[in-house]
Amino acid sequence: MKSLKDAIEQKGLIISDEVLKVDSFLNHQIDCPLVMEMADEFYEHFKDKKITKIVTIESSGVAPSFATACRFGVPMVFIKKAQPSTMQDPVSCQVFSFTKNKYYPICMERQYLSEEDNVLFIDDFLANGEAFKAAENLIKECGANISGVGIVIEKAFQKGHKYIVDAGYDFCALASIASIKDKKITWAK
Ligand code: G4P
Ligand code: NA
Ligand code: NA
Repeated sequence: MKSLKDAIEQKGLIISDEVLKVDSFLNHQIDCPLVMEMADEFYEHFKDKKITKIVTIESSGVAPSFATACRFGVPMVFIKKAQPSTMQDPVSCQVFSFTKNKYYPICMERQYLSEEDNVLFIDDFLANGEAFKAAENLIKECGANISGVGIVIEKAFQKGHKYIVDAGYDFCALASIASIKDKKITWAK
């Protein structure tokens, strides 16, 4: 997606050879027209998959997921990072964070996914894929089918890309980074 790559090149901050900061248009302040365009791209890729729900993990996955859910005309569910006391029938699991080097829990209410659902999982970043693996567990525990994985920015040099492709999921990344070296991004596609 050219407009996204342009935004990354013009407004992104390269923090290290592994981390790209995109707070000015995706992770803190949000460029809404750009996010709407992301939704159009995901719709084009996954429109024949009979998607019934969009699923993400809070918080940065919410904006692109909301826009994509509007485009498909289906509900979105965001998996939570803290379990509210009001949750009635939670499914939960632990996620390993490489950046924080510790586990944190994620959870959702079981009733929002069922055997009838074809889920499109959307997230802002794909790094090691630990968050995706945990979401995959919850979605499967509810009996739903994962029909696609849509990622806004993937760092294809980290472990997540291989995990998702090897698992055979229909996968779409809108911007795919092959490497970051000396403050310069090389695109994988
Ligand atoms: P993993 O799930 O792929 O294994 O990721 P990891 O533990 O390495 O990343 C933890 C958080 O950092 C995730 O957000 C992830 O989206 C984000 N992240 C990973 N790589 C980058 C990067 O290069 N740039 C930016 N800006 N973020 C990155 P989170 O903590 O779950 O937070 P949020 O969704 O509330 O923003
Ligand atoms: Na995220
Ligand atoms: Na994030």
